[in-house]
Amino acid sequence: MKENILEIKDLSVTFKKKHHPSEQIIKNIDLTIPKGEIVGIVGESGSGKSMTMKSVMSILPSNGVSKYSSFLFDGKTLDSKERIPAAMIFQDPMTSLNPLRTIGYHLIEVVQRFQKVSKKEAENLAIIELEKVGITLAEKRMKQYPHELSGGMRQRVMIAMALLAKPQLLIADEPTTALDVTIQAQILNLIRKLQKEEDLSVILVTHDFGIVAGMCQSIRVMYDGKIVEEGNIDDVFYHPAHDYTKELLKAIPTGDKNEKLYSLSGYSETSEEREMSEMIAISETHRVLKKRGERNG
Ligand SMILES: Nc1ncnc2c1ncn2[C@@H]1O[C@H](COP(=O)(O)OP(=O)(O)OP(=O)(O)O)[C@@H](O)[C@H]1O
Ligand SMILES: [Mg+2]
Repeated sequence: MKENILEIKDLSVTFKKKHHPSEQIIKNIDLTIPKGEIVGIVGESGSGKSMTMKSVMSILPSNGVSKYSSFLFDGKTLDSKERIPAAMIFQDPMTSLNPLRTIGYHLIEVVQRFQKVSKKEAENLAIIELEKVGITLAEKRMKQYPHELSGGMRQRVMIAMALLAKPQLLIADEPTTALDVTIQAQILNLIRKLQKEEDLSVILVTHDFGIVAGMCQSIRVMYDGKIVEEGNIDDVFYHPAHDYTKELLKAIPTGDKNEKLYSLSGYSETSEEREMSEMIAISETHRVLKKRGERNG
């Protein structure tokens, strides 16, 4: 059996609303991430990809509540207050960087949060990390402010910050969506290289099936707060079993980077289908959400 870095059962996320009933946006999913792999998560806008990841990281907005029946990280149960050795990077690095602080300030802060070292040592470690993620003139960059860097460089800084937290799991939530195509490829190559070198497990949230095919060993397809299908790349790309996945594959974007994949007009569910479904194993690696009772076909 494969070892898993993450194994969560029955995860739900609910948002409390002031004058409305609270809304469940993640609907009792089981999320299993094998160790040492890059797992792709795809699904249309609003399907719950980011909220699932934020719930894993315990960084939901304050009105969001997450529940699960069990949560194993690297095979061990964590108590709810414990921080998991995971780091997350986002689509827009500017939202995570303080515009009034230098790059060096951000990096040194992370080093000193995780290691008992002097400021000078922290600075050296930060410079080494910047070089590792492909930033040239690292010493000069340390003194610059976020707006003085290009988008690709800022994303490299975010990756350096993430790595300085010594994670076992790296969650990248559409890390290249805001970047030019050539820079996208560089950042993805960097993530791939680091995954190997640092023996990381990676979750890659993306709108781009091409990226999944090129980077990931397996894939989870989300729709309306649920995982509707999961499997190896081969399972899901060549033998899609859920109608939503089939529509998604038909809707593969044409290459215009600003095109948001999917709000699919060709797929809808009845309320019965929404409520009455369960994950069925098609093979050892491939699972699909089916209406209860509809196990075959
Ligand atoms: N602060 C919030 N309060 C209430 N509901 C929210 C909040 N943030 C997000 N949601 C809802 O949670 C659902 C899932 O959002 P999420 O950001 O996870 O989608 P996503 O799959 O990451 O989409 P995208 O591809 O656009 O990033 C959406 O329906 C959204 O409206
Ligand atoms: Mg998102």
